[in-house]
Amino acid sequence: VWGSEIALTFPSALGFATAWKDQPLWMVLPSPERSIFIGFNLLFFLPGEAGAKGNKGNYGFPGLKGQKGAKGDTCDNGTKGDKGDRGDRGEPGGGRGAPGRKGSRGAKGAPGDIPKPPRSAFSAGLSKPFPPPNVPIRFDRVWYNERRDYDPATGKFNCTVPGAYVFSYHVTVRGRPARLSLVASSRRVAKARDTLYGQDIDQASFLTILKLRVGDQVWLEVGKDWNGLYAGAEDDSVFTGFLLYPDGFEVLL
Ligand SMILES: *[C@@H]1O[C@H](CO)[C@@H](O)[C@H](O)[C@H]1NC(C)=O
Ligand SMILES: *[C@@H]1O[C@H](CO)[C@@H](O)[C@H](O)[C@H]1NC(C)=O
Repeated sequence: VWGSEIALTFPSALGFATAWKDQPLWMVLPSPERSIFIGFNLLFFLPGEAGAKGNKGNYGFPGLKGQKGAKGDTCDNGTKGDKGDRGDRGEPGGGRGAPGRKGSRGAKGAPGDIPKPPRSAFSAGLSKPFPPPNVPIRFDRVWYNERRDYDPATGKFNCTVPGAYVFSYHVTVRGRPARLSLVASSRRVAKARDTLYGQDIDQASFLTILKLRVGDQVWLEVGKDWNGLYAGAEDDSVFTGFLLYPDGFEVLL
């Protein structure tokens, strides 16, 4: 509207301005024309009717990105995944623990072997009366002879275990007197006599303790014309000896 008014006003204005330079435009025009001119120009200031609807505009630019949506529901029926790989081997544990408690006492063991102390003992009797004098009397009826330290063939006891020994004799004297000697290592250590005549019967006895070393020998002798030792069915004459205690075994005894 405004463009068309200007387009009409300017040519007419220029035309009159060119004709009458020194006069204002509205003054140049005669009075009726002047009114028309003003009215005509006033027409352009009145609002016109609404025009027809314009054409559809061009396609717009894409809109901004929308806001992030809310979290969805959890799924209940998912399938189980595959088994994972085996983990790395763990570090070793702590250091060595404290020692355990002491165990209970064990059962008592079997007794050990105890060395047996040596034994030596003998006892022997006469089988014939009146032994020969000044030689060892051979008590040839052996009743006991541990270790066989007594020899009935010689009538001598031979020491094989050093220690203290008991020697004794119990003899029957009959028909003639008797003189008995206990000989140890060729030394007469004990002597005894019994004077008796006729058919009388007597008993003589003796006992002593001797300390012997290995190899020491002990026996009995009768003197010449004093050999009244008797032996018969009712009478015995006995020579006895035994180890009382050995040397070196004091700990055991
Ligand atoms: C899990 O459930 C949904 C809805 O209930 C269903 O659409 C889908 O097929 C199911 N999937 C399986 C593996 O069952
Ligand atoms: C007496 O015994 C000892 C020791 O066994 C031995 O060395 C010695 O020869 C024996 N003596 C006799 C006369 O048998």
